[in-house]
Amino acid sequence: MKLVNSISRMSTLVKMLKKEGKSIGFVPTMGYLHEGHMSLVRAARKHADVVVMSIFVNPLQFAPAEDYDKYPRDLNRDEELAGTAGVDIIFCPAAKDMYPEGYTTYVDVEGLSSFLCGVSRPGHFKGVTTIVSKLFNIIRPDIAYFGQKDAQQVAIIKKMVKDLNMDIEIKSMPIVRERDGLAMSSRNVYLSEGQRSEALVLNQSLAKAAALVKAGERDPEKIIKTMAEMIAKKPSVKIGYISVVDSEKLTDLRAISKEALIAVAAFVGKTRLIDNIIVKA
Ligand code: PAF
Repeated sequence: MKLVNSISRMSTLVKMLKKEGKSIGFVPTMGYLHEGHMSLVRAARKHADVVVMSIFVNPLQFAPAEDYDKYPRDLNRDEELAGTAGVDIIFCPAAKDMYPEGYTTYVDVEGLSSFLCGVSRPGHFKGVTTIVSKLFNIIRPDIAYFGQKDAQQVAIIKKMVKDLNMDIEIKSMPIVRERDGLAMSSRNVYLSEGQRSEALVLNQSLAKAAALVKAGERDPEKIIKTMAEMIAKKPSVKIGYISVVDSEKLTDLRAISKEALIAVAAFVGKTRLIDNIIVKA
């Protein structure tokens, strides 16, 4: 496995791979890898000749009061995990190279970026789409893999690729959960034992919502109310939003008629967690 820090070295490697006719599967990450990332690598391994993973904590997608500085980082550990999972190249550029002085160009997917997490994190998705576009331009992947836990991110990236005619297939892979149901996230390390245990209510409330839909409930308001009541019983969990939306347009649904995305965001102590489930009427 190669570890590449320089953008020009990465571009040279990509040119060589393209010349050899190799397909590139790409897994963008911010590091501190967990089983969720590994599942993306395994999928890429199956479908591409070469698997490239980026590890870059992107300053542009963090607001000033957010956790950019304390976001967990451990490159040695990540290298070991990535190597075991079958990554061929880790691309790990420096922030000063990705955003040199005088940098002024951004990619913004309007509409989709302002719903759900976009309400409390203005500018976040502009940061995501800008860095993902830059990484796509450098790595020129055939397929790129994203986790469904960030359902809004996936919808936005798909829209960006469509709108900008990028010739890249976007694959969304299922949420990977801990044995007790907590959705895997690099931010789970921030949780105390008590908070971690209360955080399980997010997945439990989504499971309850799915059971209600299965039993015939079609009214988003009733589903949201049930979920909110469950979550309110956990003192360290503060709801950001609970939404029942169209899974592509991310707009609120008045009734569940086909497929719906039920998404929740909450602060558990100071840690912001998200989770979701797709349900079908
Ligand atoms: O999902 C993430 O880890 C990040 O948002 C991504 C896609 C790597 C962009 O920084």
